[in-house]
Amino acid sequence: YPPEDGLIIYEMDIKSHVSNRFAKNVVVSKVRNTNESVKEAIFTVVLPETAFVTDFVMEIDGKSYKSIIQRKDEAKNIYHEAKLRRKSAGLVETTTRDSNEFDVSLNLEPKSVAIFTLTYEEMLQRVDDQYELVLNIRPGQIVEKLNVEVTINESRPLKFVKTPPLRSGKEISKNDEHLKPSADIQVNSMSAFVKFSPSAKQQKTLAGYLATKIGNGLSGQFVVQYDVERDPQGGEVLLQDGYFVHFFAPNDLDPLPKHVVFVLDTSSSMYGRKISQLKDAMMSILNDIRMNDVISIIEFNGDVIVWDIKSEKPVGVQSIGDFEDPFSTLSKCEIPSPSHVNEEIISKAKSVVQKIEACGSSFIIGGLETALYLIKLEQQRNAKKEERRQPIIVFLTDGQPNVGIASTEEIVTKLNFGNNKAPIFSLSFGDGADKNFLRKLSLKNWGFSRHIYEAADASLQLQAFYKQISSPLLFDVKFKYDSDVTEVTKSYFPIYFEGAELVVSGKCKDSIFPVGVNCCGRKGPLILKSIIENLIRSLERLWAYLMVKNLLEESKSVEVNTDLIKRATELSLQYSFVTEITSLVVVRPNEATEMNSGEYVERG
Ligand SMILES: *[C@@H]1O[C@H](CO)[C@@H](O)[C@H](O)[C@H]1NC(C)=O
Ligand SMILES: *[C@@H]1O[C@H](CO)[C@@H](O)[C@H](O)[C@H]1NC(C)=O
Repeated sequence: YPPEDGLIIYEMDIKSHVSNRFAKNVVVSKVRNTNESVKEAIFTVVLPETAFVTDFVMEIDGKSYKSIIQRKDEAKNIYHEAKLRRKSAGLVETTTRDSNEFDVSLNLEPKSVAIFTLTYEEMLQRVDDQYELVLNIRPGQIVEKLNVEVTINESRPLKFVKTPPLRSGKEISKNDEHLKPSADIQVNSMSAFVKFSPSAKQQKTLAGYLATKIGNGLSGQFVVQYDVERDPQGGEVLLQDGYFVHFFAPNDLDPLPKHVVFVLDTSSSMYGRKISQLKDAMMSILNDIRMNDVISIIEFNGDVIVWDIKSEKPVGVQSIGDFEDPFSTLSKCEIPSPSHVNEEIISKAKSVVQKIEACGSSFIIGGLETALYLIKLEQQRNAKKEERRQPIIVFLTDGQPNVGIASTEEIVTKLNFGNNKAPIFSLSFGDGADKNFLRKLSLKNWGFSRHIYEAADASLQLQAFYKQISSPLLFDVKFKYDSDVTEVTKSYFPIYFEGAELVVSGKCKDSIFPVGVNCCGRKGPLILKSIIENLIRSLERLWAYLMVKNLLEESKSVEVNTDLIKRATELSLQYSFVTEITSLVVVRPNEATEMNSGEYVERG
């Protein structure tokens, strides 16, 4: 299947170096124009949303053109200036989606060769007891020499290294035997080397199973999963050259009992496929609820309904008049109390879920305020017992806060405090959801938000999400360091879930004493002691990456963020991270204007 336009990618090379969970990925694509006329060569790389592009170089017939990283507003100026002077310039920005796409194109003379090299970095997050490196391979054609190499270097022995079946990157599919990459994996205690070089023939076969057009070659994700042996208590602090990173993932703990409040949008826009996917997801989530947990199911459309699970009856909550002080209105209503989970309650909850229907508008604030009220009731009821129940709000909506008021997120945040404070996990469903509002709401309320794509696998996405938050092990986790330690990234975490990992990084003097992590578990307060390890590899970029991420995240949850943005910009420029506040600019050198080739255009 040679490409029709004669632009042949004769080699593609993807190299990834992971060290202490921090991955540096380099994608190289080599293109030759075999056509007799000038052709537009397009270089596209799909990268995870969490990654930062850090470098891009373009080499045309042996001449290389580097890129620079600039503040976003300055980058725009240079780009426009360059255009006016008829000097061609490329401007690449990241957009916000689950994955970002890096796109550059240029006109390539006949017989010319272009080599594109993109570098991006990311921190691998531990989810479900493993780290996952996802490499997108999408050359758009069968490539004669296609080579993927992953090197992992950790400071602890590797528990396992796996390469699951290739993924389409779109819908979650069941493991397909045919898509097994049969990669070469060599594990050597603390390091590993993985190689995947499918021949042209294998690329055709895999493209067939991935259901992509065979002529377009392999278009999917090559995934490497691994985990490390760890300290069961306060984690490991790695030290090097004045930087430290603290990995914390204790596992010898009992899960906290919890009170889960599902707040489900059943407004009319959920009608049809969305509501049936929501029901499917709830059916399987309910299978995963632990016995002795407590649950509440609230739905909201134009009204708020709290389900009495035991009798399977919906109870309408009187219209909440005063948004600023809803609890006094709510205390006058007969509201069903939360249900203690046992087999019977689960099966009743399932019939409740089957009964819900989509209609009306969406009274989001009413739904959330009622959830906070139920949490307060349950905490009061539980106050005399030794054990605290961890409250959790799972909030699913496809809409915008359209009934009532604009400042929903502020009002809800104000009501969510003290012992009753509950993390709010928001799930935006479908394209119409106000993702910005949900992100802010969750950030300010100790949770996170996720987007659920409206596709055949929506209920699988919801289940995967619930699995992540189903086992809280600790709450109020505070990392305490010496006064010698400075520029520490986020060091307070309201909740820690099984299978995850908390990471803190900072600058320190040459040595650091073992650190105690103050937290609360099932039996009350705990101090978990960490161990110290000296390293050979540098931790500086890992620190900078985490710092920039934290600053950008924090800047979204506060009103005045000028200083945060300023510091994030400084660090992004210093460490050359392309973020939402910086841009990558490719400017062709002056002498190149004399060449006819190489017109870089802005895309995307
Ligand atoms: C050159 O490009 C044109 C237009 O895409 C195509 O029809 C033609 O087959 C190409 N020639 C070669 C030699 O690839
Ligand atoms: C990193 O891992 C590779 C692959 O196993 C190994 O060859 C190399 O020696 C390791 N480097 C260090 C510094 O441990």
